[in-house]
Amino acid sequence: MLSTIGAWREILGLVSVRDRAKEIREYYKALSINALRKEGWFDFMRTPQTVQDIVDHFGYVDYGFLIKYLEAYVQDEILFRENGTYRVNGLIGDYPVKVPAFFGTGIVQITADAADAIPNRLRGTYTTFSDEMNTFNWDDSLQLKMYDKIRRAAFRYTDALKRSGNFIDVGCGSGIGTAAIWGYYYKKGTFDSDKPVKIYGLEFDPNLKQIAEEEFAISASRLLGVECSVVDALEEHHPVFVQGNAEDLPFEDEFFDMVYTSQVIHWCDAEKATKDLMRVLKPDGLFFGTEAFSPMLDSFVELYVLLNEGAYGAIKKEDFFRWVKEAGAISASSATPAGVFRVIKS
Ligand SMILES: C[S@@+](CC[C@H](N)C(=O)[O-])C[C@H]1O[C@@H](n2cnc3c(N)ncnc32)[C@H](O)[C@@H]1O
Repeated sequence: MLSTIGAWREILGLVSVRDRAKEIREYYKALSINALRKEGWFDFMRTPQTVQDIVDHFGYVDYGFLIKYLEAYVQDEILFRENGTYRVNGLIGDYPVKVPAFFGTGIVQITADAADAIPNRLRGTYTTFSDEMNTFNWDDSLQLKMYDKIRRAAFRYTDALKRSGNFIDVGCGSGIGTAAIWGYYYKKGTFDSDKPVKIYGLEFDPNLKQIAEEEFAISASRLLGVECSVVDALEEHHPVFVQGNAEDLPFEDEFFDMVYTSQVIHWCDAEKATKDLMRVLKPDGLFFGTEAFSPMLDSFVELYVLLNEGAYGAIKKEDFFRWVKEAGAISASSATPAGVFRVIKS
């Protein structure tokens, strides 16, 4: 109970979570409308069209993805659905795009590029994290306060800081979060103890992994407010960064005492990744982090995630809990709109 309150306290610092979620939804929606307006969608749908008409007219191949878009617009009354056809609700001109005030330039660039990629995705060409999403923009975006708050909430929700042994941050991006986590343990004095935590960071994108490695000492010293030399002196305790895939982790079974992941599983084959994250965890180990479970991952944001090859999209909590139980969990729970979760392996 106290841990749930602690987790809530952290994310309440994000002011009104619901207002922010609404702003993000409107932003992604507007970007998609403008991209598909350019494509000619709304002119074509001035007269009612079936899914097949739309597929034939635009040369699309992905029915499932197309229907998700059409239904998201129906939900927001941009389109009407009648007798198996879709028709536009009034004239749609240039749709106003309001960038959420808390979005940095990096994420604005990423989302604009992603919106432009929607027509290609409907024709069967995916975006990938490494190719079309600018790595350095991710580096900038991951400095958002939001990631910091939800990470803190995840730690408040568990006893992770009382544990020791091998720890992995899976999908660590540019490593800013790993550096922050290293700082939490540093403050606890773990690196002076006889049972120090050994931190690993795993990232799929080799460029981000390289940034994580190169910038670790600078990030950790900045976050802790100490000289770089203080962090440098603890070199043997620095995190080990590896490139790899959450779906097939390059570690033996039961290697980790703690497995942590924040906002990563929806980018992967979610069941495969969840089970592999459990595989590398020791008995009685802690698997925790954050995940934007459905419906917290908004439909328009989910469509953006689904531009990426292999991405699962919004995960239902009950599916996640079933997967971890199938992989040996004895307990699993989650809390807050940030989707903080904790799982203990039997
Ligand atoms: C939203 S970012 C979160 C980064 C970091 N966990 C944080 O909270 O700052 C998602 C990260 O997951 C990584 N990722 C996506 N698919 C992955 C996979 N299959 N295996 C490992 N990492 C993956 C991306 O490259 C990206 O760095």
